[in-house]
Amino acid sequence: PTPEGPRLCAGRAAGQVYRRRVSGYLDDCTCDVETIDKFNNYRLFPRLQKLLESDYFRYYKVNLKKPCPFWNDINQCGRRDCAVKPCHSYSEEANRIEECEQAERLGAVDESLSEETQKAVLQWTKHDDSSDSFCEIDDIQSPDAEYVDLLLNPERYTGYKGPDAWRIWSVIYEENCFKPQTIQRPLASGQGKSKENTFYNWLEGLCVEKRAFYRLISGLHASINVHLSARYLLQDTWLEKKWGHNVTEFQQRFDGILTEGEGPRRLKNLYFLYLIELRALSKVLPFFERPDFQLFTGNKVQDAENKALLLEILHEIKSFPLHFDENSFFAGDKNEAHKLKEDFRLHFRNISRIMDCVGCFKCRLWGKLQTQGLGTALKILFSEKLIANMPESGPSYEFQLTRQEIVSLFNAFGRISTSVRELENFRHLLQNVH
Ligand SMILES: *[C@@H]1O[C@H](CO)[C@@H](O)[C@H](O)[C@H]1NC(C)=O
Ligand SMILES: *[C@@H]1O[C@H](CO)[C@@H](O)[C@H](O)[C@H]1NC(C)=O
Repeated sequence: PTPEGPRLCAGRAAGQVYRRRVSGYLDDCTCDVETIDKFNNYRLFPRLQKLLESDYFRYYKVNLKKPCPFWNDINQCGRRDCAVKPCHSYSEEANRIEECEQAERLGAVDESLSEETQKAVLQWTKHDDSSDSFCEIDDIQSPDAEYVDLLLNPERYTGYKGPDAWRIWSVIYEENCFKPQTIQRPLASGQGKSKENTFYNWLEGLCVEKRAFYRLISGLHASINVHLSARYLLQDTWLEKKWGHNVTEFQQRFDGILTEGEGPRRLKNLYFLYLIELRALSKVLPFFERPDFQLFTGNKVQDAENKALLLEILHEIKSFPLHFDENSFFAGDKNEAHKLKEDFRLHFRNISRIMDCVGCFKCRLWGKLQTQGLGTALKILFSEKLIANMPESGPSYEFQLTRQEIVSLFNAFGRISTSVRELENFRHLLQNVH
């Protein structure tokens, strides 16, 4: 098979073919993958990585012990007590147990923080303004909420798959993507052509906003899978664990032929997600430019340097020409637009709550962080407070973001940016394979 997977979302020709299947808003934008790749991989990605390693961004407060609000029936691995040992509910197959034990071990979250850090985080100030929030407000005041060091807990392969993981994604798609009654699963394995057509016919029938919602979720899913393929557990002995690229795993998820065209679409959605978050970051620049805004950790010199780096990144983003225009979202009839926006928000919040049902803790951590980051991006895009202060009419004082939102926004974007970077790595690896 040709490595056509990662090459997609691409130039005009591919766009033409694609449009016949799903006519979509993004396909009419100036989305040019080569330009995005170059911009991301060489200009943005290295600086963003540096920023995310700073103390302000590496510690994320999260409540990983919230019970799953949806499934209380027996057999559900998402239940709270089950989540601690997520794997013993399906004991029939020995290798499953083994797989699960591996998931449990690799999925454990390292919660250790130095004493110094613990003291420092106590001082971190918080602003709050949650009225526009797209996410379930995580109860970070709860005694169960803890700071975790994201650098100590990288997102990578944990072995968390099978029925438990499958269920999470299928619930997200099937129950939360503005589903009409007769929809087929978008990720059914071994999907036949006819089913697929039904699904894309359905997608085509949706209005721009609803389709966009689906594409964001699909983009997020794709991004997570790129990471798992790029940080695959290649070797696991008691002496050494080795993580790295697994081309086979990548192909199984994204190769055009192996996935019957599904993989390239997933990657297109990943670029779509990238552009949406890029647009949000560009729009929120005035908030970060406010003289009183600081990335507070208590170290004045470091904090000022970090703010300078952050602004540099945001200006770079602003200079990027291929932005998505959110004004065509929710444009039409005012009442209808309002309702749709509200629906959008409710669906999204629901998805962030579903993250509490993820059995593997590390997956839950990154799932929560990334949904919160995307939710923050949406909050920015749709905030009228920020719109009222745009464009460039000086700093926007009405608009607020909490520290949580800032940390998740940039880390979530960092994940998508890493995925785009990893696609280039896979492209090279695939060239060598063939
Ligand atoms: C939220 O998710 C649950 C569980 O999947 C589902 O039953 C419910 O219908 C969803 N609600 C919305 C508004 O999407
Ligand atoms: C790569 O992933 C495939 C599954 O897609 C797996 O069968 C294989 O063992 C993995 N390779 C390595 C070296 O772990």
